[in-house]
Amino acid sequence: MLKNSLKLLTSLTLALFIVGQSSSQDADKQLDISAELFKCLTDMARAGSGAFFVDNVLGDLDATLVVANSETGGSYPPGSVIALVPTEAMVKHETGWNPATNDWEFFELNVSEAGSEINVRGTTSVVNRFGGNCFDCHKLATPQWDLVCGTDHGCAPLPIPRETIVNIQNTDPRCVRPGGAE
Ligand code: HEC
Repeated sequence: MLKNSLKLLTSLTLALFIVGQSSSQDADKQLDISAELFKCLTDMARAGSGAFFVDNVLGDLDATLVVANSETGGSYPPGSVIALVPTEAMVKHETGWNPATNDWEFFELNVSEAGSEINVRGTTSVVNRFGGNCFDCHKLATPQWDLVCGTDHGCAPLPIPRETIVNIQNTDPRCVRPGGAE
């Protein structure tokens, strides 16, 4: 009886250990990402034939732009930040942080004139405000695009037309207009 309980306890502990392992990220390879790093979209660099915006929180914007503007794809360098609309972004941590998502972390933000707030962040379970799971759509990009959808990389399409995306990009409340008004 006692022996059986011990056995059960051992396998339970082992199962918990395995679950813990598979869902954890390597803390040593995690960049320190806080809400202030998410800026006004149009203050970021335009990339991907103008489709989306990029930045690099480690200061290596050039390396991010090389991949973002490549016609054959590539692996984005650590520190890369990508956004299509103000409320959603992807950030690349150091190599090995979370191999299942190519080290990308997905963010869902609240934005206002006061700046950005992180609403949800994570790897494979972040859902946007339309109920769509970021990773489930982005993982459909063919491998050379490093989970970036662009306009023709094989992802599930967004439920909104491009004109609407452009309108949303141009009305980011975090952008201070010249003269300070608005
Ligand atoms: C229904 C599928 C779908 C869901 C859900 C989704 N995306 Fe996307 N995402 C796309 C597509 C398709 C594009 C490219 C659209 C375009 O450029 O016209 C895109 C573009 C992007 C881009 C610009 C870079 C790129 O991949 O082209 C970022 C960053 C992004 N999404 C982040 C997110 C985040 C973060 C979430 C979750 C909070 C999310 N997405 C949820 C399909 C999706």
